[in-house]
Amino acid sequence: MKLTINGRELEVEPGTTVIRAAEKAGIFVPHYCYHAGLSIAGNCRMCLVEIEKMPKLAIACSTVAAEGMVVRTDSPKVKEAQDAILEFLLINHPLDCPICDQAGECRLQEFAFQFGPARSRFLEEKNHGPKSVDLGRHIVFDSERCILCSRCVRFCQEVSKTGELVISHRGDHATIETYPGMRLDNPYSGNTADICPVGALTLKEFRFQQRVWFLKDTPSVCAGCARGCNVLSGISKGRILRLTPRENQDVNRWWMCDEGRLSYTKLYGPSRIRWARVEGLTGAGAAGSLPTASEEGPVLPKMNEGVPPAPHPIGAMRPGETVMAAGLEAAAKALEAARTAGRVEFVFSPRATNEDIYALGKLAKELFGADRAALPSFERGEDDFLLIRKDKSPNRAGALAILGGLGLAVETGAELAGRIASGAVKAVVALGPNLMGLETADQAEFFEPLAVAAQAAGIPLVAIDAFESPLTARARIVLPALTYGELEGTFTNFEGRVQRVRSGVAPGADGLPVYRIAQELARRLGQPPARTGAQETFSALAAEVPAFGGLTYAKLGGKGAVIA
Ligand code: SF4
Ligand code: SF4
Ligand code: FES
Repeated sequence: MKLTINGRELEVEPGTTVIRAAEKAGIFVPHYCYHAGLSIAGNCRMCLVEIEKMPKLAIACSTVAAEGMVVRTDSPKVKEAQDAILEFLLINHPLDCPICDQAGECRLQEFAFQFGPARSRFLEEKNHGPKSVDLGRHIVFDSERCILCSRCVRFCQEVSKTGELVISHRGDHATIETYPGMRLDNPYSGNTADICPVGALTLKEFRFQQRVWFLKDTPSVCAGCARGCNVLSGISKGRILRLTPRENQDVNRWWMCDEGRLSYTKLYGPSRIRWARVEGLTGAGAAGSLPTASEEGPVLPKMNEGVPPAPHPIGAMRPGETVMAAGLEAAAKALEAARTAGRVEFVFSPRATNEDIYALGKLAKELFGADRAALPSFERGEDDFLLIRKDKSPNRAGALAILGGLGLAVETGAELAGRIASGAVKAVVALGPNLMGLETADQAEFFEPLAVAAQAAGIPLVAIDAFESPLTARARIVLPALTYGELEGTFTNFEGRVQRVRSGVAPGADGLPVYRIAQELARRLGQPPARTGAQETFSALAAEVPAFGGLTYAKLGGKGAVIA
């Protein structure tokens, strides 16, 4: 079916609305209440367009394109209507921009600037309403800023299907409220702040944290569960300050869950492993032979003599801690000795990237002749109807495909603990449960017996993790891994979609990504040096593991690709 918009002829499917047809042609029609993921409300009137032979302007969001339709989105009549709508919306809108979290990404600001009248004739006192209303665990509402587009109401009815919100009262007293006795506490409530076109709904955890124009949005994926929702990491001053959903119709559409959205907050807890640890290194004896963090402070000019050096960005070393190079040396020495005495076993993690699993798998096979690999699973709750998966690991499917492709048979923690108890195992290298900073109650079930068995057998346990865990508490050597936001790599979601996870955050540890730790151990154990980055490691993986055959980072693009 053909229609013309602003003089351009377009062909669209029957049933396409004018706003979608314009979108297809790259013509932007300003709108507030329309959202592609919600039903049509048609209440804001911001999308008015002129259609030939129609006596009045029509709203583009609900008008279905017809054969031969001639539409103008930029005529003087449309311009006049846009002016009027914006003047109307701004009548009672407070002058909150200087303190509003939405400033910088506010549709009211943007449209007022782009399409608005640039003046107000309104001299009367504005209507005042409740501000900072605590609507739920994560959401605060400001009624003065609300333009009653009803997107949030429709989200709760149609997407989360929890229906907590309603527009109550009439006329200029109309406002958003939760039904009596209800709170906006559904597992997807954060999306209401994303789709609110103005600063009426804001996320408590991001309120007043940073002006949005200082955020660098890095495309990545959530590591909170096996879904792998596409996200934008809002990074400022070396830290993630918010995660927002990035549209991917094959994975998460426009949404993400609250738990995943706030998973980044766990990254800045006190349990981060910042330095390597080697049992037997104590006090100044350990740190004394190596440069301590505070000694690595800047060389001060003479005029500052007596001024204490700036603290190390990672934090001071504590007794028993050492630099990564010393940790790698100690680990390589222990593994070399164990290799000569018997078997060395490996524990993998469904929270590590594909690149990590591959590099560690290669090390296990080529230098230690491994034929088995222990792989824990981390589960909580149930899969829901929308996005949430009970598998709280972003890469179980990838780990299984790679370990299988390398010929490593997957075994349980109990099986490995049994073999350790039998005396056949002389050392264990284990990826810990907290590589992405996310804990689940079941991780102790897997790691405690294993660590206890290793301790009882008196064999070295080399733990690689980013945060403290039941494993690192009992390990003889702990190597700090870089974590979410600090590393590049890929995860394979439960549907086999391989997607890139991206860096952008300053490392919070003297650590390395797991694949680099594996390379460094291999080099110290006699393999030729291989200092490849994540991209090259992925190419090697794709060349060796048939399921990933032909894939490259370029082919994954922003939306990922499904493995065979
Ligand atoms: S709170 Fe935001 S999303 Fe909800 S009706 Fe008001 S402006 Fe629209
Ligand atoms: S559903 Fe899973 S992947 Fe998506 S945001 Fe939530 S935790 Fe993250
Ligand atoms: S976007 Fe069409 S009426 Fe609101």
